[in-house]
Amino acid sequence: MQVLKQVNLAPYTTFGIGGPARWFIEASTEEDVLEAVRFAREQNAPLFVLGGGSNLLVSDAGFPGVVLHIALKGIEQQHLGAATGFSVAAGEDWDAFVTVAVCQNCGGIECLAGIPGSVGGTPVQNVGAYGQEVAETIRLVRALDLQATRFVDLSAAECGFAYRRSIFNSSHRDRYIVTSVQYELKNGVDPVVSYADLKRYFQNWKFSPALPEVSSAVREIRRGKGMLIVPGDPDCRSAGSFFKNPVISAEHFEQIVTSSNGANVPHYPVADGQVKVPAAWLLDQAGFHKGYVLGRAGISSKHTLALINRDGASASDIAALRDVIIAMVVEKFAIHLEPEPVWVG
Ligand code: EPU
Repeated sequence: MQVLKQVNLAPYTTFGIGGPARWFIEASTEEDVLEAVRFAREQNAPLFVLGGGSNLLVSDAGFPGVVLHIALKGIEQQHLGAATGFSVAAGEDWDAFVTVAVCQNCGGIECLAGIPGSVGGTPVQNVGAYGQEVAETIRLVRALDLQATRFVDLSAAECGFAYRRSIFNSSHRDRYIVTSVQYELKNGVDPVVSYADLKRYFQNWKFSPALPEVSSAVREIRRGKGMLIVPGDPDCRSAGSFFKNPVISAEHFEQIVTSSNGANVPHYPVADGQVKVPAAWLLDQAGFHKGYVLGRAGISSKHTLALINRDGASASDIAALRDVIIAMVVEKFAIHLEPEPVWVG
């Protein structure tokens, strides 16, 4: 195991922002993960686990402890009758795994194509898009339990999945280091084409699309929104959606409708009579449009919800934009938007 010092974290994030890690360790095996944890304990230093870096905002001061970069690789398959089990190491690229699955006609994650990041991050924030969530296909998550200092296999039920949420980013934050994920994908099923953007994409097709065609369509739709990493495109120097879509009460929603002078307020019903409102719409209404500029930070020209590093932005430039947006949305709608990316350092 090699311990590097003062490694700049910006290149490890899709934002391209962030100061140095005091120590930096790359783990290719579970033994490496354990050794890195022991090293951090010996130094009495905090530990941060870095995956694909697609949902992070690293502070300009960097991280004053050990950054553990998860680089475990490997995909193992198992036939389970009508389904196929895939045991995927946490450091595998997520989108590459989606391609492996759909090309074998295994369904359940076809709509999650083009999401940047690594496999290990998918259960943590229960990645979801275009009508699917990774929680629907996860059977087991293997992780190092830092409390007991041993590897454990957690069932999907034990992971406590909800919208962009699991025990790993809520009740048991910082307790586990995910090293591999087992997905169970159904063989030969029809793809899910339920999200409006996808329906529109296929509306003139004479035949039902196959799983790989749905994945390609999702990548194309994501590209149009700047939510696909395209090298050289400043619109994707971001962390994807910067805010979660807020869930509000039916009464609160009615107040917004009334004060919006009859505008058609987009919304989706969720459990308990509550309503989910797209954060992108709230931003637009509060004056933060596509292409909005605040110093070196800004909003993508393709999607209101992606805050971007226009050129050489620091974490504090992004934080300044975040804060004016939050304040304006509170003032206009009495909704406190919650950022989606994890703040490091
Ligand atoms: N909208 C605007 N302006 C925009 C874009 C969207 O007003 O510039 C409004 C429209 O009313 C639109 C609605 O927002 O109908 C929803 O937009 P979209 O379909 O693009 O989805 P989203 O709610 O902004 C969510 C996820 C994305 C995921 C897409 C597709 C969250 C926070 N974001 O975005 O996930 O790809 O749905 O399923 O739930 C991510 O989490 O990083 C992410 C990219």
